[in-house]
Amino acid sequence: MARLLSTAVRTALRALLVLPLALLLVTGFGTEALAAQWSSEQLTVPATADGTEVTFSEQEIKSGRKLFNNSCGECHAGGITKTNQNVGLDPETLALATPSRDNVAALVDYMKDPTSYDGEYSIADVHPSLRSSDVFVKMRDLDDDDLRLMAGYILVAPKVQGIQWGGGKIYF
Ligand code: HEC
Repeated sequence: MARLLSTAVRTALRALLVLPLALLLVTGFGTEALAAQWSSEQLTVPATADGTEVTFSEQEIKSGRKLFNNSCGECHAGGITKTNQNVGLDPETLALATPSRDNVAALVDYMKDPTSYDGEYSIADVHPSLRSSDVFVKMRDLDDDDLRLMAGYILVAPKVQGIQWGGGKIYF
């Protein structure tokens, strides 16, 4: 009888151990499936104007999105520019700027010292940038890596959201 009982207890204990383990495996796989929601093609964007590319991790783009929404969202939510609809953050508009802003390096450069759309003069006194962080205090918390992640997000977003990003402009 005692032996039977101890066997029963052991079986019960084993079940108790196995159950959470099984749950952990199932939910673990679940998050992995979720994590792989963007393809590496979507996460790959131009790094520089000369055509070099960079592939971000999904985690980096999520960090970039958070930073972007925090620092830029009040004017650029969804990739538009609230106070100047002609100069949005959609790929076509970025590409046609002077210099072209459709790569990570050029966007990081813009966040350091933004210029007018024709590239003629600095607009750091009216647009948030590291150069004007005395006025735009939110910029003080950002380092080079933060700028890189935000640039990555700006370029990956339209590849994930389509023309939704930038207000749904269609050029083709
Ligand atoms: C107070 C509102 C405001 C905030 C905050 C702001 N921007 Fe802008 N942004 C603008 C305006 C207005 C323009 C258009 C400037 C012009 O006239 O050329 C612009 C233009 C841009 C452009 C050029 C787009 C193109 O097609 O050439 C980029 C890139 C950009 N912003 C990035 C950012 C980033 C990144 C942040 C956050 C760090 C940010 N902006 C925060 C108002 C804002």
